[in-house]
Amino acid sequence: MTVNEQTSKTDDQWSSTKYNHHASFVPALGKPVLQLLDPKPDEHILDLGAGDGILTRDLEQLTKSVVAIDASADMIQAATKNGCRDARVVDGHDLVDNELANGQFDAVFSNAALHWMKKDPVKVIQGVHKALRPQGRFVAECGGFMNVADVRSGLHAALRRRGVDPEPYDPWFFPGKSTYTRMLEENGFKVESMELIPRMTMLNTDIAGWIDTFGFTFLAPFESEEERKAIRDEVQQNLSFAQDDGAWCIMYVRLRFKAVKV
Ligand SMILES: C[S@@+](CC[C@H](N)C(=O)[O-])C[C@H]1O[C@@H](n2cnc3c(N)ncnc32)[C@H](O)[C@@H]1O
Repeated sequence: MTVNEQTSKTDDQWSSTKYNHHASFVPALGKPVLQLLDPKPDEHILDLGAGDGILTRDLEQLTKSVVAIDASADMIQAATKNGCRDARVVDGHDLVDNELANGQFDAVFSNAALHWMKKDPVKVIQGVHKALRPQGRFVAECGGFMNVADVRSGLHAALRRRGVDPEPYDPWFFPGKSTYTRMLEENGFKVESMELIPRMTMLNTDIAGWIDTFGFTFLAPFESEEERKAIRDEVQQNLSFAQDDGAWCIMYVRLRFKAVKV
C-alpha cells in the first residue's frame, strides 16, 4: 500500500459524468424539497450546492430567477450545459463574503449538499442568512444523523485495515434534528419544520460506483488505482446483502427542514 500524504482535498474531485451515471437518483428524489420550498412565480432564489443543475432547472420553471452555486467547476460547467441560466463556482463557506450575500434572495434552496460543507457549517448558515431578505426562507435537505452508515462504516474499516485513520478523510457532517435546529436558531433563523427521514435508496449502479462518485476523499490516501479499486470492491463485497432482487441499495437518512430568517 502506498499512502499519498499530499492529497489534501482542495482540488475539484467531483465528476458530473460519474454523478449522472451513478447518482442521477439524487436530483430525482429531490422533488419533496422543492414542494416544501413552494416557490412563487416572482421569486429570486439561490440554489446552494446545485451540482449539475438538474433540479435547478425544475426550480427555474417555477420562479422568476435562480442563481445556482457550487464549489465544483466541473459541476457548474455541467449545470450551464444543462441549461441553467446563472450558474457560478462559489464555495458555500465563502458565501458570507460573496456579492450574493446581499439580503436580496426570497429563498435559499439546497438538496443533498449541506453535509459536504463540513469545514465550518455555521459559516455556511451565516452566508445563507446574509443572502436572504428579512423573512426569507431557507429550505433544504441534506444527509442527517446515521446517513449511509452502512457504506461509511465499511469505508472506515477498509482504511483502518490498511493502517490509515479514516477520520481526516471522512468528508461528511450528518447532523441530527436538535443539533441543526440549534445551529439555525443561534444564527438568526426560526425553524418551522425539521424532519429526519430514513429512506431506502435504490442506486443507479452499485456500491462500488457510489464510492467512486461520492467516496473519493476516502480513496485519496491511496496512489494506485488498483488499491482504490480493491477498497471499493471490498466494501461492496461486505455489503453483498444490500441487494433487493439484483438492485443495490443504501440506507439513506435525510434531514429536511424549513427555516425563516428573523
Ligand atoms: C450530491 S451533489 C447534489 C447536487 C444537487 N443539489 C442535486 O440535487 O443533484 C452535492 C453537491 O455539493 C457540492 N459541494 C460540495 N461541497 C461544497 C461546498 N463546500 N460548497 C458548495 N458546494 C459544495 C458538490 O460539488 C456537489 O455538486
